Amino acid sequence: MSQITQTQPLDVPTAIAQRRSIKTFKSDPITPELLKQLVELTVAAPSSYNIQDWQIILVQDEAQKAALSAASWNQQQIVQAPVTFVFAANTKAGEQDLTPILEQGLQTGAWNEKTVDYFKTAIPQFQATLGDKQREYAIKDAIIAATHLVLAAESLGLSTCFMNGWIEEKVKEVIGAVDNPDLAIAVLVPVGYAAEPRLNPGRLPFSYNVSVDRIGNPYQA
Ligand SMILES: Cc1cc2nc3c(=O)[nH]c(=O)nc-3n(C[C@H](O)[C@H](O)[C@H](O)COP(=O)(O)O)c2cc1C
Repeated sequence: MSQITQTQPLDVPTAIAQRRSIKTFKSDPITPELLKQLVELTVAAPSSYNIQDWQIILVQDEAQKAALSAASWNQQQIVQAPVTFVFAANTKAGEQDLTPILEQGLQTGAWNEKTVDYFKTAIPQFQATLGDKQREYAIKDAIIAATHLVLAAESLGLSTCFMNGWIEEKVKEVIGAVDNPDLAIAVLVPVGYAAEPRLNPGRLPFSYNVSVDRIGNPYQA
């Protein structure tokens, strides 16, 4: 059964308000054009120094989906949805050759020679000072990209589920990264057409977790 294509993307506030974590998906495919648009909007996300230290694996093959689901406590969203985005993070990206990133910045005119020269030393230096926080910083970038995906998908008529329930080493086995200690798994996001709606489980009043100036000084809207 083919999907009725949503002609108008939802605006951002509507997509945010409407999004739910979907637990059951139809098997309906996502068109290659729509998938490409999702990937483009995902990698439009910002990252520290524009380092783009995510590695995104689109798991579509049926056997790969089954293996990924097995690595995720048999959560069925991954088997049902036509594609699951695995967001991995390269914890050593800042120590790699940054030339493609720096050249692109120059070409677009966003960065001048002085900025690029500064970044050549500042980025590796910053990475070195992070020490054991390198993993945390890389995961931040990957999670921001995943959030772009989730909201873009909602806007374009698709549904998603952020997923943290998996065993990292097993996920790495599935994606072929078991020998790469510098790759961290950040989050999994199945994407597809929802098989059933879900209700919003609700959010706490602002008084629980939104403060002004100092924690504990409640924000009173
Ligand atoms: C980082 C993260 C990890 C999550 N992991 C899972 C998961 O493994 N399986 C699942 O079914 N839902 C998972 N969820 C979905 C949450 O249960 C859901 O976001 C929460 O109940 C709020 O519901 P809503 O997303 O519909 O607003 C996860 C959500 C986040 C943000």
